[in-house]
Amino acid sequence: MRKCVLFNDNWQFAAQKLSLDAPDDCFVPVTLPHSNKLFDHHNVDNAAYQFISTYRKKFHWHPSPEDDNALVFLDFDGVMLACDVYLNGRFLHQHLGGYAPFSVDITHQLQEGENRVTLHVDSRERKDIPPYGHLVDYLTFGGVYRDVHLRQVNVSHIDNIFVQTTNVMQHPRLTAEIRLSHLQPDLTLQASVLDSNGQEVASLQQTVESQTNRLEWPDLPPVTLWSLDTPTLYTLQVTLWENGRLLDTLSTRFGFRQAEFRADGRFYLNDQPLPLFGLNRHQTYPYIGAAAPARLQRQDADILKHELACNIVRTSHYPQSPHFLDRCDEIGLLVFEELTGWQHVGDEKWQALCLEELETLITRDRNHPSIILWGVRVNESGDNDVFYTRTNALAHQLDPIRQTGGVRDFLGSSFLEDVYTHNDFSMGVRTPTEQPHLITEFAGHMFPTKIWDHEERLIDHALLHAKIHNLQLGHAQIAGAIGWCAFDYATHIEFGSGDRICYHGVMDIFRQPKWAAYFYQSQQDPAQKIVLQAATHWTMGDRSGGGNNPLTVFSNCDEVEIIIGDINVGRFQPNFEQYPNLPHPPFTIDGLNAYSAWGQAKFYNLRLVGYLNGQPVAEQQIASSRLPKRLELTADADQLYANGADMTRLLFRITDEFGNPLPYAIKVVTFELEGEAELIGENPFPLVGGQAALYLKAGHKPGPVIVRAYAPELPGAEVSVQIVPASG
Ligand code: GAL
Repeated sequence: MRKCVLFNDNWQFAAQKLSLDAPDDCFVPVTLPHSNKLFDHHNVDNAAYQFISTYRKKFHWHPSPEDDNALVFLDFDGVMLACDVYLNGRFLHQHLGGYAPFSVDITHQLQEGENRVTLHVDSRERKDIPPYGHLVDYLTFGGVYRDVHLRQVNVSHIDNIFVQTTNVMQHPRLTAEIRLSHLQPDLTLQASVLDSNGQEVASLQQTVESQTNRLEWPDLPPVTLWSLDTPTLYTLQVTLWENGRLLDTLSTRFGFRQAEFRADGRFYLNDQPLPLFGLNRHQTYPYIGAAAPARLQRQDADILKHELACNIVRTSHYPQSPHFLDRCDEIGLLVFEELTGWQHVGDEKWQALCLEELETLITRDRNHPSIILWGVRVNESGDNDVFYTRTNALAHQLDPIRQTGGVRDFLGSSFLEDVYTHNDFSMGVRTPTEQPHLITEFAGHMFPTKIWDHEERLIDHALLHAKIHNLQLGHAQIAGAIGWCAFDYATHIEFGSGDRICYHGVMDIFRQPKWAAYFYQSQQDPAQKIVLQAATHWTMGDRSGGGNNPLTVFSNCDEVEIIIGDINVGRFQPNFEQYPNLPHPPFTIDGLNAYSAWGQAKFYNLRLVGYLNGQPVAEQQIASSRLPKRLELTADADQLYANGADMTRLLFRITDEFGNPLPYAIKVVTFELEGEAELIGENPFPLVGGQAALYLKAGHKPGPVIVRAYAPELPGAEVSVQIVPASG
């Protein structure tokens, strides 16, 4: 019977290539996911992660009689960038490529008692492995940065399940392709379709006749569709039997939904046109590179859906964490997933690796209802009809239903895919003749913006995103637009703002909102969340010429009332004139000069009240004093698992008396920790820009943890997190 355990604990790590018999004192203990190096939040030098490291783990193996016919695998979710695997001194496997999972059969080298697995992890930017070979505008970082599992299965086991749902709008039909490890006589498959409460809604039994078996349910009872508002998930549970003896069980989640880009240029989800509105995501974080545990991966999906109101994310430019994709399924966030690469296509061997990774990615991810498009062209590479005919064919062969896209940044390219996906940095929207058409990037390097930038730049950055979305939403031939990008990210020296960060995010690297983030957030239905955010530092002298006119407000309210000091300036409506196609245009509030102009008006506090159907529903106040009054410290999670890897973000901010961050506050913030956990990040932190974050990483023991923050002249702040027993 299948046993699968997380294999993240008790690894040893050395930041160099050590021989297989190196003594224990050459290593330090680590838990996965692990970055081969920790960094400051900016100025990351990519040379610092480029080395070969050694990971080693000793574990005990005591097979029981029922394990007689067992195979044992190590399953790696992702190791950056190449990995040699040894067991008990013997080389077993080499994997090239940092974004795709791989499995190593360790059965024949396993011994009873103590075993020792050793990995040589090569995190150098090797030109022979995608995405490298030329320049790359992001960092790959290094290490065993995703989970590892130890999996034991019967020799005869289920290798893969591929679920397809068709005709879901009329008469839903379910097909599952079950691939077995090998064919032998007297095998039977049983499959149950479980609803989201675990209740069986359909089942099937079938004699095995070939290694790949097709199970079909042409007549299902009524099913609930997967949609953005009700992302209903089902589970297909498959069991494999040999003459009544259970050999294996494997399950996968899936959803019933129809997702299609049509010739009219639009995207349809369950037969309804859905304008796509989204952002690109890189999988990297401050301090820890790409080694973020499940909680942070899942949180990024939540941020994109709930804080940025996106309905789609592009996993630029590589397969991302299974935890991230699982969460997208659960919350109803569409995904455009693409193969690894950036502008460069290498030689035959390089292309073979790229194809291999594409195959692994589609095989891993094709049951996710959230994924609606495979990106089968290396981002922004030139035409290469031979190679891209192969990537398209491979995607269609592995997944006959989902469409393909291929991201290019020039018009007139060979169009071999189903959807014309295009990075449009024209600062408007171009209209290729090919249909359907999806904009996969805009803004980005055309308008880098820091969270502590000058007010005018932050407003213009937000309004650039508003402008492009307004244009795309009003354009009948454009299915949607995915902006560049969700979060600021660390990059190579050829890109970025001198401190090796691309400040292209609508949020900063800590996932804190710039005003552009409030533009995104404000596009949601107020029934989901009421948004009211004035895009101003509320100063008399930050803008050229001074004052605060016009005032931009991002809100999904019908009206916004402005009160300056005691004066009620009036109620204002969204700017439909300039942004007719947005569900909730920004407010452009003109005529404030009488109340907030440089050298002419006394400067008072600003108060905004948002109204829906004539009723006040939201309020924001900004103090004119702009003096630091509070140091705030918050943890996103109040509980962490005691597994040595779980993490939560600790946001800290210097704010005015109403809790608005002060973007020009500069102070050294110092942290103290009490309890079985670790602070990840700079401590003391030289805070520039009024807000930043550290991460709290759980240890292995349950118990309370308290973090305290101090900044000169401000009252200290404190937050508690409970470390609870690991859930496995
Ligand atoms: C694009 C590229 C992205 C990022 C972006 C910056 O050309 O695809 O990865 O570099 O530019 O705007």
